[in-house]
Amino acid sequence: MTNTETKPANNDALRAPVPVELLDRDDPFTPPAPLTALAEKGPVNKATLPGGDPFWLVTGYEEARAVLADPRMSADRFQYHPRFKELPEALREKLRDDKSRAGSFINMDPPEHTRYRRMLTGQFTLRRMRQLTDRIQEIVTERLDALLASGNSADLVPAFAQPVPTLVMCELLGVGYEEREEFQRTTANLLRMDLPAAEAVANMEAQRAFMQSLITHKRAHPSDDMISGLIHDADAALSDDELINIANLLLIAGHETTSNMLGLGTFVLLQHPSQLATLRADPSLMSDAVEELLRFLSIVHTGIFRFAKEEVELAGELLPAGATVVISVVAANRDKQQWSDPDLLDVTRARGPHLAFGHGVHQCLGQQLARIEMTIAYNELLRRLPNLRLSVPAEEIPLRNDMLTYGVHALPVTWDTP
Ligand code: HEM
Repeated sequence: MTNTETKPANNDALRAPVPVELLDRDDPFTPPAPLTALAEKGPVNKATLPGGDPFWLVTGYEEARAVLADPRMSADRFQYHPRFKELPEALREKLRDDKSRAGSFINMDPPEHTRYRRMLTGQFTLRRMRQLTDRIQEIVTERLDALLASGNSADLVPAFAQPVPTLVMCELLGVGYEEREEFQRTTANLLRMDLPAAEAVANMEAQRAFMQSLITHKRAHPSDDMISGLIHDADAALSDDELINIANLLLIAGHETTSNMLGLGTFVLLQHPSQLATLRADPSLMSDAVEELLRFLSIVHTGIFRFAKEEVELAGELLPAGATVVISVVAANRDKQQWSDPDLLDVTRARGPHLAFGHGVHQCLGQQLARIEMTIAYNELLRRLPNLRLSVPAEEIPLRNDMLTYGVHALPVTWDTP
């Protein structure tokens, strides 16, 4: 792919541009050569961000876990980002108080983070996950019925990989059937890179207004969904701004990621026919295969950002207070010290604690839901679409090198009519 700049983030949750050479891939499933070269030099390397600021890139698995579990490392870029500290105090206060930040706990540290995290963990109950499993099965079946009815070829990204997570999010948040079309449209627009800036801003505003009206409705008419659950958590007493931002955080952190795993995961399986055959022969292997796909693909390819609150020594490197630290999930999940044959996709590999969902206090809150979605979606896709295959040469599949989350922009496929 060309030397494009990393696109502006709409995924605030996992945001930050790293040098493009650490993201650009020629081969879709091989980490960029400059990243591998740095990883071979050592587990922690000093490098330079596009804006000229230094940062420390963590590529070693053990070191990545250590940073993510270290309370001296902050996720709060509004307090610790080196550039943020240079702003006048009045402006910093304004940015910190901005209503668009209330409740956005992915950028908070304990104890502020802990309060929201507990509230949300209380909503991801076993009962809710069971109910969602049934609905996910129905959503996937409906999408595949529609695909089969439409012929024997499609672009799987708009036809399957995007709508399935959007509809699951509708279930989780309690978006009514009559509003789902609007929700799907604004959510799909959040992922588009070709929208002119004014339209992207208008779309974000429309999305916020949508969440506001959803919350107003849920306050008056509670049901069994997560927003109603949060509203009626008497201890929480969340404001509308907090609820809007929590809902948006769930949507942004959960939708783009799962959608890209579905698209890229299908692509990689189609490129590994013997692995695909193993899974077709025994669908019970899929839940372990999902873990291997998460490790192998490591779609949060821009890495996880942290800031040192004080001087920290890491793998012999002295990181000054305020240092920007980028944990390369891609490199850590391919660390030879941790994984045997890490560059091999092996869907029967024994489960290991990969870092695709992060680690430590911010470890992915939606990981169980994501696992259920992926297991059902891949299994049903393989079962229902006989002889599924790419309909263009693999080299023509457009890669999301230039986006916050790695994946494919399109996945044209064909299958035999049953
Ligand atoms: C395959 C799909 C997914 C991947 C690869 C993924 C990855 C991640 C990663 C790496 C983090 C850690 C960020 C950090 O440490 O700064 C994270 C956090 C988070 N994820 Fe996911 N995620 C996925 C699906 C989901 C889903 C489905 C949801 C919600 C329904 C979700 C909600 C969240 C939230 C709320 C956080 C922030 C947690 C916190 O700060 O305490 N994610 N995710």
